[in-house]
Amino acid sequence: MKRVQDKICLVTGGARGLGLAAAEALLAEGAKVMITDLDQAAGETEVARLRKLGFAIRFMVQDVSSEEQWDQTLEQTAHIWGGVDVVVNNAGVAALADVEKESLKHWKATLSVNLDGVFLGTQAGIARMKSRGGSIVNIASIEGLIGEPLIPAYNASKGGVRLFTKSAAIHCARAGYKIRINSVCPGFAETQMVGAAVASLPPDEAKVFVERTLARIPMGRFARPDEIAKAVLFLASDESSYMTGSDLVVDGGMTA
Ligand SMILES: NC(=O)c1ccc[n+]([C@@H]2O[C@H](COP(=O)([O-])OP(=O)(O)OC[C@H]3O[C@@H](n4cnc5c(N)ncnc54)[C@H](O)[C@@H]3O)[C@@H](O)[C@H]2O)c1
Repeated sequence: MKRVQDKICLVTGGARGLGLAAAEALLAEGAKVMITDLDQAAGETEVARLRKLGFAIRFMVQDVSSEEQWDQTLEQTAHIWGGVDVVVNNAGVAALADVEKESLKHWKATLSVNLDGVFLGTQAGIARMKSRGGSIVNIASIEGLIGEPLIPAYNASKGGVRLFTKSAAIHCARAGYKIRINSVCPGFAETQMVGAAVASLPPDEAKVFVERTLARIPMGRFARPDEIAKAVLFLASDESSYMTGSDLVVDGGMTA
């Protein structure tokens, strides 16, 4: 028996990066996976590749900040496989601007994906799972634990994800639903999100930023996406059956 054998899993922002790595880890352990993303071309390419390898995976276009699209996504997933057991709220955005340069428009755009999207996905997941049980994994960040002057909106959104996760987890446990809700707090991982943020800085500032960040990580390197995916797999699986409302930090010791 594999670790998430036959569990029906939805992973948002699954076309690349940590979402794709989570989807691959779940598939390798026997899950059926729906990935969703705004990026249709990348999502379809990855799904075609993984289906050729024999995995049960589908793709849908979804904007996680749209309430109606959540209903459609879960409806379609249930239509294909008969329900949903795991929701991984992974889709997220980040762009650099300190508090003085941050605009209200950008602040709201960040919170709408990173925080509203997680709220909507958790709420929709609970509605579908409350009679059958399940696991919801919300991707927060170490940036929900500590401040970083270049990403105030991202910090606020990820701190929000951590505490929102705890609130929803307590509610479900007290209500007697067999739904566990946890967050993962990754440190810096090698994905396009980090690459694009670094590339948006002037080259000399980018070099200093990377050097300073690496110096703050006791393990001296960024994470590979599969190293974060293993934490998601654990929380999705029944191996974490006594965990709810926790925030699992995977950061090479950066916040230790
Ligand atoms: N990479 C890191 O170092 C790191 C660290 C901590 C937390 N995280 C979090 O992990 C998650 C994944 O990050 P990543 O590094 O893989 O990023 P990424 O930019 O490589 O991938 C994010 C994916 O989300 C999709 N997406 C963006 N907005 C969306 C929306 N509104 N609806 C649906 N999909 C949308 C993008 O198209 C993309 O495919 C994010 O929540 C991020 O904040 C990343």
